[in-house]
Amino acid sequence: MAYNFDDSVDQNLFNGMKWEPRYRHGKDFLCFSLADSDFMAPPQLTKRLTDRAKIPHYGYAYRPDSFFDSIVNWYERHTDWKVKPEWISKGYGIYPSVCLIIQEFTKHNEGVIFQTPVHEVFWTVIEANGRVPVENPLKLEDGRYTFDLEDFERKIVNNNVTMFLLCSPHNPVCRLWSETELSALAEICLRHNVLIVSDEVYAPLAHPGRQFRPIAALSQEVSMSTITCFSPSKAFSLTGIKDSLTITENPEYMRRYEQALIRMNMNFGANLFGNIAIQCVLDECDDWLAQQIDYVIENREVMARYFRDFLPMLELMPSDSTCFAWINCKGLNLDDREFERLLSEEAGVLLRHGYHMGPGGSGFVRMMISCPRATMLEGLERMRKVFAK
Ligand SMILES: Cc1ncc(COP(=O)(O)O)c(C=O)c1O
Repeated sequence: MAYNFDDSVDQNLFNGMKWEPRYRHGKDFLCFSLADSDFMAPPQLTKRLTDRAKIPHYGYAYRPDSFFDSIVNWYERHTDWKVKPEWISKGYGIYPSVCLIIQEFTKHNEGVIFQTPVHEVFWTVIEANGRVPVENPLKLEDGRYTFDLEDFERKIVNNNVTMFLLCSPHNPVCRLWSETELSALAEICLRHNVLIVSDEVYAPLAHPGRQFRPIAALSQEVSMSTITCFSPSKAFSLTGIKDSLTITENPEYMRRYEQALIRMNMNFGANLFGNIAIQCVLDECDDWLAQQIDYVIENREVMARYFRDFLPMLELMPSDSTCFAWINCKGLNLDDREFERLLSEEAGVLLRHGYHMGPGGSGFVRMMISCPRATMLEGLERMRKVFAK
């Protein structure tokens, strides 16, 4: 079956945060800033949720064995990680779980290291929990991002770092990290007894021919030092459902994580609609996802041609996964804030500007391109008109 990605749901029909600026400010903004897809969710999913909604009782839900089987099978189809049902716990979103892990596994004023540029919430979750953010900027080598391992190890040693928060695949630079790159990081973490927490929310969005590798799949030793946070939310237009999975092979980590859930009374029950949604998209929507990824790759190709023809001072950075275009705007020679003001006030185009994302972000913007092509093109057209002035 061919799915339709050219149309999106009328934003007036629901309160979507992504398009909130348009309604709040009464201005015709085009919103590409928030990492939320505009695509309609898979029809199979809508059917499952509406079928359940028609049963007039919404009591506490439990997760049947088949729920865990769906996760195990999805990992088996898409990765080389052999997950076992008993390794899987729950979360009410990736970041709420990361917060619980920070509280449970690190102490006040200890360092948590991560690579920049990255989603700004990495700083928020670390600082809001009284820990110290330690930045390890990515290196840009021949137009491709990779890790600076020397800086990584030095900062772990010098900053009392006890946890590494990995973003894999990476938001915003769209890299799928290779086995060699991940192994080098893991080796350093093992050497210094640093817990690996891997945020893998973009895992389903690998481009065709590229394989997503969960860091925990590297070896049993690495797996026993890792907690993985995963959700199909970004890939299947599900972010408002706020449901996720926390996975670890290490039984002691699992015991402590579940203890942290109990402290917040989050162990009791489960997300009724979230569980149905996760199971449905993992079991039934491979084909829908593959078509979505092809559509987004075509969006990238259209954007690259547009830049070549009309905006040659912008450079679309290579990508092997995710839903973003990461764009080098240094050719414009504009101050970051002035560029942001110009786009927002004069073009009415809202992007996520890289200077908010830490070292390495200045001069870049992130544009969410999981959207109908016509919307993306209108955004580009508005940018062109502003730059033409
Ligand atoms: C890397 C990354 N992790 C997590 C999230 C948010 O996940 P959740 O809404 O499940 O907390 C985002 C949202 O943009 C993200 O970019």
